Amino acid sequence: MQLSTTFALLAAAVPYALAQAQVWGQCGGIGFTGPTTCVAGSVCTEQNSYYSQCLPSSAAPPPPPSSAPPAPTTTASSPAPSGSGLNSLAKAAGKLYFGTATDNGELSDTAYTAILDNNKEFGQLSPANSMKWDATEPTRGTFTFSGGDQIANLAKANGQLLRGHNCVWYNQLPSWVANGQFTAADLTTVIQNHCSTLVSHYKGQVYSWDVVNEPFNDDGTWRQDVFFNTLNTDYVAIALKAARAADPNAKLYINDYNIEQTGAKATAMLNLVKQLLADGVPLDGVGFQCHFIVGAVPSSFQTVLEQFTALGLEVAITELDIRTTTPASQSALAQQQKDYQTVVQACMNVKGCVGITIWDFTDKYSWVPSTFSGQGAACPWDQNLVKKPAYNGIVAALSA
Ligand code: XIL
Repeated sequence: MQLSTTFALLAAAVPYALAQAQVWGQCGGIGFTGPTTCVAGSVCTEQNSYYSQCLPSSAAPPPPPSSAPPAPTTTASSPAPSGSGLNSLAKAAGKLYFGTATDNGELSDTAYTAILDNNKEFGQLSPANSMKWDATEPTRGTFTFSGGDQIANLAKANGQLLRGHNCVWYNQLPSWVANGQFTAADLTTVIQNHCSTLVSHYKGQVYSWDVVNEPFNDDGTWRQDVFFNTLNTDYVAIALKAARAADPNAKLYINDYNIEQTGAKATAMLNLVKQLLADGVPLDGVGFQCHFIVGAVPSSFQTVLEQFTALGLEVAITELDIRTTTPASQSALAQQQKDYQTVVQACMNVKGCVGITIWDFTDKYSWVPSTFSGQGAACPWDQNLVKKPAYNGIVAALSA
């Protein structure tokens, strides 16, 4: 469809759309030329000088005493008590942390870091890229830790836990690994040296490491990568043992996606961890990435978490985001609020689920749009660093 036709249709369908901003819509800010009044039941609230937003009246700060009319009642959920944050709520509820991924390029954005650094909101950081193999050992035996160190040091300065991500993964490998024609013995040494050097470097600073990331295909078969093709399944134990020796106090995890519902892939992961435990291989936890789609969060998630904790392992939500078609509709954002609540509630209901990490907190820096065409709006804060309804869904689960 022509762009002009789209506009014409939109204009015809919502003739008064520009008169008042919708709930959660923008209603002011430097350079903003749209409507500056909000629909009934919402209040235009300044978030920063560049962005004012229509918040449901119950969510907006109370008006000054003299400015009279009582706020209309609304069905929108209440915000967290002031002064609380996601991590504070998670800890009050017995979890270790509520955290977020971040990336080095984002750390010069001071509006972003003002939120990231608030340990009431986030008690844990994961580096989205800078501890991966291509970043840390781009050529054999030459290690670069500057990016990872920046995030490790930030977590330390902020009083936040750190998840290491990751030692062994088929993706973001330097070509000397991905295309190396290794013998089994040679690749064993390569893995041992990489995991050992990486994990030793951050010894004492990391709560948990994703030692092995994404070992399975969606049908539960093993991913055919350089590790499996050269060492069969042995690479998993090789990496875990090297990591344990390098930092005996770090919790060692295997991390994957699409294991959040009962089915072939979750069963494959269960069978792998049972075998590793039976073999005495060091393993402490399983990470559930939870890259979900609005309206399609798996109903068996809690059941699966319990299947893993029943084996004596801890579990964690490690990369949560819930994407939708962009631009996101009001109803999608409302469903997303419910979906975030459902997912966080599953972790809350399982004692061995130690924490929740979102895969960055703002749509401004989400990996989703560049990976899933036409999809985005997956995070609890929007492009303008303003909380979305999803935030209240998380709060509701953490405070239930
Ligand atoms: C993503 C990063 O967020 C992106 O910046 C990068 O371009 C690709 O990788 N599963 C994982 C993460 O385990 O490492 C991925 O992170 C997202 C999917």
